[in-house]
Amino acid sequence: MKPNKLVQIKNVIKTDACIQFLMNRPKTEMVGLGLIYGKPGLGKTTYASRIAFMRGYIYMRLEATSTPKSFASDLLTALYRRFKLGEYIPSGTTNNLFKYCLKILEDNPETVIVIDEIDYAFKHDKLLGAIRDIVDETLTIVLLVGMQDAKTKLAGINKHYFDRCNYFYEFKSVGKDDIRKIAKEVMDIPVDEAVVTKIDAHCSGNLRRAMKIMYILEGAKLKNPNLDIASIDLGRDL
Ligand SMILES: Nc1ncnc2c1ncn2[C@@H]1O[C@H](COP(=O)(O)OP(=O)(O)OP(=O)(O)O)[C@@H](O)[C@H]1O
Ligand SMILES: [Mg+2]
Repeated sequence: MKPNKLVQIKNVIKTDACIQFLMNRPKTEMVGLGLIYGKPGLGKTTYASRIAFMRGYIYMRLEATSTPKSFASDLLTALYRRFKLGEYIPSGTTNNLFKYCLKILEDNPETVIVIDEIDYAFKHDKLLGAIRDIVDETLTIVLLVGMQDAKTKLAGINKHYFDRCNYFYEFKSVGKDDIRKIAKEVMDIPVDEAVVTKIDAHCSGNLRRAMKIMYILEGAKLKNPNLDIASIDLGRDL
């Protein structure tokens, strides 16, 4: 299997359109805030982290233990690295760290920040507020990445926040066309329709599961090239 690919499946194309929409927005009228969300295993993190790497966006991932202070400190570190501002990263109060971040973002108005696992911020008013300040006070684009019900949750937590969000996109389950595309790009065996059908029939539209099936099929085929794909046992756990 070839690692670290970002195959141009439908969800990838749609999310790219989201970023384009925010980039082309009338900046004095609209803030650069968007939310992508969806069920597990559909490729949200893969998109967010790989596109950030490819295009020089800042990728942040919240954790269960994230606090406003840890976020401010991580963001400042990421901004210092991204814009090569030196080895010495200032420390201080949460408020001061955010001020440093805002100053750097004002100086770099084309910045895009992707914040994965945004659901962890939903219980921290201050953290959500700080992210809101970034889009209110600078031209930065912030793309939030959340779980299946992130949109509904955000609407329930803070109407003003929800109102600022200028683009929503829900990741969809993957269909056979996307599976064909991914399988052909990542598998190290020839991918015919029997392979695509087998993956599609067992992955329930979930890419994480599809990758596991590809790995099993590839291993079996490499061991025995004459094996009939339909007969390969995928195990009960899929
Ligand atoms: N566009 C893509 N190209 C190639 N592989 C992909 C792509 N999208 C997803 N994958 C594969 O599918 C796996 C699952 O995707 P990912 O972890 O990004 O899902 P997720 O939507 O973030 O799930 P969760 O909600 O559980 O965090 C990845 O580990 C990766 O191997
Ligand atoms: Mg994820």
